[in-house]
Amino acid sequence: MSKLQRIVIFGATSAIAAACARQWVMRGNSLFLAGRNENKLESLLADLRVRGSSGQQIEGITVDLNDFERHEALFTRAEQTLGGVDLVLIAHGTLPDQSACEQSVAMTMEEIRTNALSVISLLTIAANRMETQGSGTLAVITSVAGNRGRRSNYVYGSAKGIVILFLQGLRNRLARRGVTVITIKPGFVDTPMTAHLEKKGLLWARPETIATGIVTAVEKRQDVVYLSSIWRWIMLIIRHIPEGIFKRLSL
Ligand SMILES: NC(=O)c1ccc[n+]([C@@H]2O[C@H](COP(=O)([O-])OP(=O)(O)OC[C@H]3O[C@@H](n4cnc5c(N)ncnc54)[C@H](OP(=O)(O)O)[C@@H]3O)[C@@H](O)[C@H]2O)c1
Repeated sequence: MSKLQRIVIFGATSAIAAACARQWVMRGNSLFLAGRNENKLESLLADLRVRGSSGQQIEGITVDLNDFERHEALFTRAEQTLGGVDLVLIAHGTLPDQSACEQSVAMTMEEIRTNALSVISLLTIAANRMETQGSGTLAVITSVAGNRGRRSNYVYGSAKGIVILFLQGLRNRLARRGVTVITIKPGFVDTPMTAHLEKKGLLWARPETIATGIVTAVEKRQDVVYLSSIWRWIMLIIRHIPEGIFKRLSL
């Protein structure tokens, strides 16, 4: 990153986001963190303040991001705390129980609300403010799951897919207004979200590795980033399997 940035992270207590925050604070940037879990947020802030220096703003707020009514005020608070915003990372998310969602409209709607609608609300506010200032970067953690609906996780995948398409359009709109829009697509990452899954094989990544990829993508102003990069080729193959064959696969 060429100059110091004022960074807002939504869902900051996520393992991936926290790893990004550590890298950014050690580069001298200022941070405003929005996280739901108060204890996790406080301990993250304490850790970051030890790593940072006195000239850096390192502040945070506890918030449930499904409370859309608070989004506008939240962004204003971040701007006032940091004196402006150069970079927004949206990281929060939940990995639903697909079978349970199939039996519950309420649970399915709640997952779409968390993984798609809350992100779109935050993006709409941040995009308009960055468009007005004529600069800034919006980076959003989506997932390779958003590339194709699969029977094992299509509630989560479709929510991420909504965001991926929204970001595509937003990038197209803001490209000529000095604003960068980055779609981050991780594959399997060893975090609390996947604690219940068996983690074997080369495809699993550590949150610190994903964070390095995100920090690099921001520096290079990339558009769409697969982390790790092998997922670009895996998803290329998966996307091109004809539907007639795909519907018979146990993916
Ligand atoms: N892990 C993977 O394999 C993987 C793969 C692809 C994409 N991703 C995406 O990466 C992002 C980060 O996930 P992670 O892997 O780092 O998992 P994580 O550590 O479990 O982080 C998820 C975070 O989202 C927060 N969150 C959920 N609902 C929220 C809400 N309504 N308001 C505020 N915060 C909320 C959680 O807060 P609490 O601490 O309060 O629960 C938690 O901090 C997510 O968008 C996820 O979908 C993960």
